Amino acid sequence: MAELIAALDVQTREEAVAQVKRIGDGVGFYKIGLELFTAEGPDVVKAVKDLGKKVFLDLKFHDIPRTVERAVRSGGKLGVDLMTIHSVGGKAMIRAAAGAAAEFGEAGPKILAVTVLTSLDRSDLEDVGITGRTPADQVAAMAKFATENGAHGLVCSPLEVGSLFRALKAGTLFITPGVRPAGSAVGDQKRVATPADAVRDGATHLVVGRPILAAPDPAAAARAILAEMSA
Ligand code: C5P
Repeated sequence: MAELIAALDVQTREEAVAQVKRIGDGVGFYKIGLELFTAEGPDVVKAVKDLGKKVFLDLKFHDIPRTVERAVRSGGKLGVDLMTIHSVGGKAMIRAAAGAAAEFGEAGPKILAVTVLTSLDRSDLEDVGITGRTPADQVAAMAKFATENGAHGLVCSPLEVGSLFRALKAGTLFITPGVRPAGSAVGDQKRVATPADAVRDGATHLVVGRPILAAPDPAAAARAILAEMSA
């Protein structure tokens, strides 16, 4: 059964805690990203863990292997459940991240690789020296590379999860943002899918922000998404 992760795209620890309490028992997993973590640091991770929730710490590490290894270890000590790295950080960096995560055993953090940021198109890739490959080809190549070197899963668009699911080994985690319940506002997302489609195509975790946080009744919005996921 796929899990729903609500994106805590807020600026303060107080707002984060208030949102988790408002959403209630229906959602057990929260994403803390660069904005909130840079503002509030590990305290906000501890606050969400203290509410009995799982945490996806989305800081997209990309540094030398030793630094990433030590940062993943810090995340493991905080009890983080999922963490992100950039697959372009290279083989040694991915292996170092996976090795640090493994020190915490089964309950330790799982490492997710970002393949190609969805904000980049073909000409952006050419600007950084990736030529002769479409973004889709680059996503497929980096997904294979990252998982072969120890990443437990990938962050990917719901539109690419189907082909990655078929290409990669069983047990790979697929975390998909860009999910919109049927009939809800798309906002600035350009390539979206419904919760049912994402799960059908192989997503193991759906990341949903505004459709839950900006809803008049976030708990009801989350319940509706969970119902769509299990339909
Ligand atoms: O509000 P919304 O549901 O669009 O939020 C999606 C969350 O997933 C945000 O935190 C956003 O930064 C993140 N995300 C995304 N697309 C990606 C990677 C991350 O929307 N390609």
